[in-house]
This record gives sequence, C-alpha cells and structure tokens, in this order.
Amino acid sequence: MTRYTVKRIGVLTGGGASPGINAVISAITKTAINQYNIEVIGFIDGFKGLVENKHTSLSLDKVSGIMHTGGTILGTTNRDNPFRYLIKSNGEIRYSDQSPQVEENLKRLGLDGLLIIGGDGSLNIAYKLFSLGLNIIGIPKTIDNDIYGTDVSFGFNTAVDTASQALDRLHTTAESHHRVMIMEVMGRNAGWIALYAGISGGADIILIPEMPYDIDSVLNKIMQRRKHGKKFSVVVIAEGAKPGGGEQIIKKTIAESHERFRLGGIGQKLGDDIENRTDIETRVTVLGHLQRGGSPVPFDRILALRYGVAAVDALMQSSWGCMVSLQGEEITTVPLKTVVSQQKQVDPSGSIVRAAKEIGINFGD
Ligand code: F6P
Repeated sequence: MTRYTVKRIGVLTGGGASPGINAVISAITKTAINQYNIEVIGFIDGFKGLVENKHTSLSLDKVSGIMHTGGTILGTTNRDNPFRYLIKSNGEIRYSDQSPQVEENLKRLGLDGLLIIGGDGSLNIAYKLFSLGLNIIGIPKTIDNDIYGTDVSFGFNTAVDTASQALDRLHTTAESHHRVMIMEVMGRNAGWIALYAGISGGADIILIPEMPYDIDSVLNKIMQRRKHGKKFSVVVIAEGAKPGGGEQIIKKTIAESHERFRLGGIGQKLGDDIENRTDIETRVTVLGHLQRGGSPVPFDRILALRYGVAAVDALMQSSWGCMVSLQGEEITTVPLKTVVSQQKQVDPSGSIVRAAKEIGINFGD
C-alpha cells in the first residue's frame, strides 16, 4: 500500500491505563490529518469497541488541549480480548473468539490500518490480528516498562515519579517513628518501577522479581543501619518479588486476560516477617493505582507524542506487524513477533543494579 491509497485509519488502546495515552492519540490525529490528510477513527473502550463496532471520528478539535491530561478520551482502556471475548447472556458467562467480527468491522469501516496502543497483553493481541492478515501497528504503553524491543514504554517515567515522591514522604515518617516502612509498587514480573523509584527515592532495600530475596539479608541490612544510628529503614518491594525458594503472591485470577492473574500482597508478607523476627515496628503502603493516574511527566508527553507521529509514518510506509520503539535517542520500529517473544526484565548484574549496590542499597541477595 502506498501513502496515496490510505484514506482512513483506526486507533485503540488496550490494557491498563498509562499516563500519556491522550498525548499519543493527539499526535496520531494531528499527524494523520495535517501531514497526510487521512481520517482517524477512535474505537471506544478499547478492543470492546472493535468487536462491538463502537467508534468516534477524531478531529483536530477533539484532540486539542489533551496532551497533558491523564486517562483516555476514548472511553475506557481495559483488558478485553477479541480472541477470548467475554459474553454474558441469560445469566451465563462464556468466552468466544470474536476475531472474525473484528475483521468484518474493519472491512466495513474501510480502515486502511489500525494502530494499537498497549502493553504486553494488547501487543500479543495486535500480533495475532496481524497474523490474520490485518494491517496493524503497535505502540508500547505500560507503566511496567516490561515490553521487549523498546528502551522505554510511555507511562513508566510518570509512575516512577509518583512512586519516588511517595518514598520521599515515607522517608520522613519512617524517621520520625524509627520504623521500617515498606512500599509495594506495581510492575508484574519486572522490577523496573521498584528499581528506579527505589534509587531516586533513597530506599535502603529494593526487592525485585528478578532477584529472589533472602529475608536474612534484608534483616541484616536493617540491623546494620540501626547499629550505625539509623533507626529507620525504607524498603521498596515490587509486587512480583518473592523470597528465594518461595512463590509470588497472587491476589486474583482473571480468566479473560492474557496475564491470567493479578499480583499483590508481598509487601505485607515481608512486613509480617520483619515484625515476627525483630522488635521493630513495620508499616506497609501499597501504592497501587496512584501509579497509573494523573498527568504524564514531560518525558512521557514527549515520548508518547513521538510514538504517535512515528506510528502514522510507519503506517504510511505499510510497515505492518511492527511496533514503534525508542532505541537510544531514536524512534525506530521492531517486528511485533520479536516484541511478544519475551518480556523485558531488569538484569541483576547490569549497570543500574551495580551502581545501586555500590552506594549501599541492599537487594536481598
Ligand atoms: O500492567 C500494568 C499494571 O499496572 C501492573 O503493574 C499491575 O499488576 C496491573 O496492571 C494492575 O491491574 P488492574 O488495574 O487490573 O488491577
């Protein structure tokens, strides 16, 4: 397909919210209309809108002044999956493959291409839709930063900023009470948020899924600090962290989602373990969805904007089946097949962990 045949494109967001979605939608719409004179259709409520054919035409007016806003202007972003679509009828629940419906809807709307803004789960769906022969391009969105093939996904830096500010606050109250303060952060099987927020927020201990922890090492660090007059400690623990030989804590299972379960509760377990084995008062904060809310920080606004522009450019070059990606200073593309082949995790022997260790941060190892 050449740029001259493209008349109408679609955009949707899937998965959890991530600050910067509106900046991407804005950049896509402005680039498509201003640079290429193409119409943009936004699907309402993510993949649900694609299956149920609910959409809106995106004009320059509709995307004006939204770059700095959190949330999404396209209804909701959620974990619906067209290949395992939840259908409720007469009090019964069943799952059905709605991809034929998706194909039909795209054809009927006359869409020349579809841009899918999403994390791991949505990009897997994007790849499956591409494999059916549809014209798909992916855009990496998740606060977890676990998407393989890109240096950073948009939303991550905002989440780190929020978590880092929360740590600053926990620090002062930890010190005032001589307590151990534990903060549990999101990230699923990756420790990026814990690592970056922990370092920037001055945590004494950072526990991540990539490095199963030894409780004795954690206790030792806390006791060493006390011995040296620091009667408080601040710990950041990723929701996916686990003790060596132990299991991740699953909070909930979800049938329709590609991820299959939600993690959470390891912070409380660690807090209980510390209180059971010492006489130090310990408190646990689960930062939760605060990490996904609010306005994107400037880095995420710019990254999201660059991704949106690059996605439309890639579409005009018919680079189907790819995801736009940040590599170093440049925005480039990688095949979705590569993106979904693995998750990006923290390297326990990489330079960031090494630097943190050199300044005395304990990783429970
Ligand atoms: O993938 C993003 C993420 O925020 C994870 O870090 C977290 O485990 C999950 O989503 C929470 O999802 P929900 O909003 O469904 O509780």
